[in-house]
Amino acid sequence: MKQHKTYLTGIKPTGIAHIGNYLGAIKPALEKISHNKDERHIYFIADYHALNLIKDRNLLKKYTYSIAATWLALGLDPNRVIFYKQSDIPEIFELSSILACMTPKGLMNRAHAYKAKVSENIKKKIDPDTDVNMGLYTYPILMSADILLFNTDVVPVGKDQVQHVEIARDIAENFNKTFGNTFSLPKYVLNKETAIITGSDGRKMSKSYHNTLEIFETEKVLKKYVYSMKTDSSLPTDPKDPDNSNLFSMYKQFATQDEINDLRERYHQGIGWGEVKRILFNKINDYLEEPRESYKNYTDKTWLIDEFLEKGRHEARQLAKPFLEEIKSKIGVG
Ligand code: ADP
Ligand code: TRP
Repeated sequence: MKQHKTYLTGIKPTGIAHIGNYLGAIKPALEKISHNKDERHIYFIADYHALNLIKDRNLLKKYTYSIAATWLALGLDPNRVIFYKQSDIPEIFELSSILACMTPKGLMNRAHAYKAKVSENIKKKIDPDTDVNMGLYTYPILMSADILLFNTDVVPVGKDQVQHVEIARDIAENFNKTFGNTFSLPKYVLNKETAIITGSDGRKMSKSYHNTLEIFETEKVLKKYVYSMKTDSSLPTDPKDPDNSNLFSMYKQFATQDEINDLRERYHQGIGWGEVKRILFNKINDYLEEPRESYKNYTDKTWLIDEFLEKGRHEARQLAKPFLEEIKSKIGVG
């Protein structure tokens, strides 16, 4: 009988983390951490997933430390969370090979990242497989191995990762049917408010759209970003709808309930966009002041990050090794 409810999520080190990553994935994951001993929290850095994009050794190392420092600066406590680098856990890759043998190609054909790349190529009238490497094609299998190896129950993610968690669930169900009950069936949790954080241009904040705000940007850049956020042309005295305002939805993520109610009221009464931006900038800046310092501290002391990741590697492998043995014995190779 399984004793723990397990929460697991990963972030791939393909760049410096932005506010969309924080509100969509990191913050909800950190909020799940409780003192409840029956819960296990496993948060990791998906560096082999990042390898699909980053083919520069120094850059991959830099981003890996940066994502690790981001988690730590925002409050991840390595004593309560199993915190590791994906590449440190060989069992994940062995499981990934096993799962690949049981995954229909059609399931991968439907995965959205691959599909998006192919349709982009078709639109450009070039070979549909241009720039599609096998790592991208089988991305959801490796992600399934990440999730299933730790008998994950809950995966906190942003909206774009929902399909991948559903694929992991399909793969697990299929395996269980063939070899007997083995894997827990994972579910995603998606926070409605933060499923898609928009960037300054009103589109999904994403590194691919160059509309991101890095979490630990300097005060100056943060200010410039907030003041350039898109608004409509209504006058300061016009009443405004807070629920249709990207500034308000961002504010809600950082303010207390009383502060949110106050600003909501001011929207109804009529407030200038300049004033909203001033309030929003001050709020985010105060909120991030301490983590910003802490982030800098961690990136200056990468040996400390190495120590935490080493601890996580040990803890994760202790769970992974016996479970992989069990899986191998079920399929007839162990
Ligand atoms: P990007 O789109 O910038 O490349 P990633 O794919 O690295 O971001 O996403 C890492 C995590 O952050 C995932 O769980 C993803 O769902 C979440 N995330 C990314 N962008 C956003 C956003 N704009 N709103 C909400 N969540 C997001
Ligand atoms: N694919 C996720 C992303 O692009 C990162 C990731 C890798 C992940 N393995 C995971 C997320 C397992 C949740 C669970 O953001």
